[in-house]
Amino acid sequence: MEYERPLFYHVMAYAESAERDIVDMVSGNPDWEPPASLREALIEYAEHDVSEFQYPPSEGLTPLREEIAARRGVETERVIITNGAGEANHLSMACGFATHSGQEVILTDPVYPYYSGRTTLLGGTESLVPVAADGSLDPELVREQASEETALIVVNSPNNPTGAVYDPETMAELVAIAEANDALLVSDEVYDHFDFTGNFESALSIESTHRVVTNSFSKSMAITGFRVGYAVLPERLVDAARTRHMLTNVTGSRPAQYAVYRALRETDRSYYNQNRDRLAERIETFTDALDDAGAEYTRPDGGFYVLARFEGFPGSLENAKRLIDEAGVACMPGEAFGQTREDWLRFALVTPRVEQAASRLAAYF
Ligand SMILES: Cc1ncc(COP(=O)(O)O)c(C=O)c1O
Repeated sequence: MEYERPLFYHVMAYAESAERDIVDMVSGNPDWEPPASLREALIEYAEHDVSEFQYPPSEGLTPLREEIAARRGVETERVIITNGAGEANHLSMACGFATHSGQEVILTDPVYPYYSGRTTLLGGTESLVPVAADGSLDPELVREQASEETALIVVNSPNNPTGAVYDPETMAELVAIAEANDALLVSDEVYDHFDFTGNFESALSIESTHRVVTNSFSKSMAITGFRVGYAVLPERLVDAARTRHMLTNVTGSRPAQYAVYRALRETDRSYYNQNRDRLAERIETFTDALDDAGAEYTRPDGGFYVLARFEGFPGSLENAKRLIDEAGVACMPGEAFGQTREDWLRFALVTPRVEQAASRLAAYF
């Protein structure tokens, strides 16, 4: 099997080789500071005893698991620390296939491309359920699609790329559909700290043996390079997930987990609120300029992506490259996210240069 390089890398590489100055709105790498205590903990770690430079427990540092469990109101045994939410999603999906009879994975369209790639990698077949224009998901469509062939339903709220935040009723319905079809619901909640509606509710609020919640500190603490995430699993899947995690990774990074643990305990709400408010301001600036450019767009209820559609300029890779060359703005083509947003482009607002990008777009279109 050939290595399928994600489209994301092609766009990044193209932007990096451009002759002109480019505002990078491709990646989901936050541009703001991590919590101060995270930096302090890392610096201190350099002086720790050599015993703390060795393998942590495979399922993660116990104090970190306990801290997460206490915050999420679950038993510590059900929390496995992973190499980001990426691995948590992978483990959950692998466990879903191992413990449910079908091969189908129900995903939404637009879809976060790694869910599709992982479905293929794990030998499943995907069924895409389209979401509404505003990104909301009608659980009835999922119910119609689900059958005994369904092993997994994988959703993401707040959503990449639509910015939709699923309401608690939708999440409850999705859990019920998973239960009724003996499938596993995987709820990826990596953008939970960037909810602008106040309506976000984790799928953890619905107790079920048929759902996993995945999350990470990549976005909430602005540390995508640290690779610390977690899965909260139903008891019946814990051993299967631990085995897969151990055989793939042995374990995760001890200093990174320690630094996250310290930051979790020592960071107050204001850190998260500030980052969320900054994003809300960027969304205003960017969407104002999209209005000037005559573009159609989705205003995110959560997360940090804006989907925009410009008349006569579909969201192809070719047009994303044109925008780099001719406007000096790099973004993701909508065609990377399934079929329903092929006319759209996705802009990540994780750059201090949002205003500049916006005026470049307004001038270009
Ligand atoms: C929906 C979604 N899930 C998971 C990830 C990966 O997160 P992590 O860095 O925790 O692996 C991303 C990263 O952009 C994402 O957008």
